[in-house]
Amino acid sequence: MQDYAELFNDSYERVMQNADEFYGFFYQVFLAKDPQIKQRFAHVDLVRQISMLKNSLAYLLVCQSSEAAQRELIRLAKQHHDEYLVEVFMYDIWLDTLVEVVEEFDSKYYPEVGEAWRRTLSPAVRLMKASMQ
Ligand code: HEM
Repeated sequence: MQDYAELFNDSYERVMQNADEFYGFFYQVFLAKDPQIKQRFAHVDLVRQISMLKNSLAYLLVCQSSEAAQRELIRLAKQHHDEYLVEVFMYDIWLDTLVEVVEEFDSKYYPEVGEAWRRTLSPAVRLMKASMQ
């Protein structure tokens, strides 16, 4: 049995082989999940929407290791709350969507792979949720 970090890294590499399609599909699914989420992106063009996910994955991954990145994540969470009017429940949908899209794009997906994505990203997502106000 591989450890979770390895499962995550291998899966990440596989889905990033089709990064543009992966990010594009994430947005289709994420915005369709909830009319309030769709509304938050109403005035954001597609290129910026996709850069949001690219940047956000990078932030979440770096934040595990660096205190400076954690502070940046807290700043980002406050900005999401104050400027983008993001609510706590939307983060859960964000993570659920990501795992669904990984399932779709990773040809070697099985449930532990999804669990590995959740375990890897959850601490940073929790930090953002806790720093909303
Ligand atoms: C895990 C969590 C998330 C992270 C790390 C994250 C990260 C980011 C980053 C880095 C940006 C700035 C993009 C840029 O300037 O290039 C951004 C923008 C934005 N995010 Fe998030 N995000 C997260 C979750 C969410 C959720 C749940 C929503 C819900 C609607 C959301 C809505 C937005 C919106 C509307 C923008 C503004 C886009 C723009 O005006 O360019 N984000 N996010």
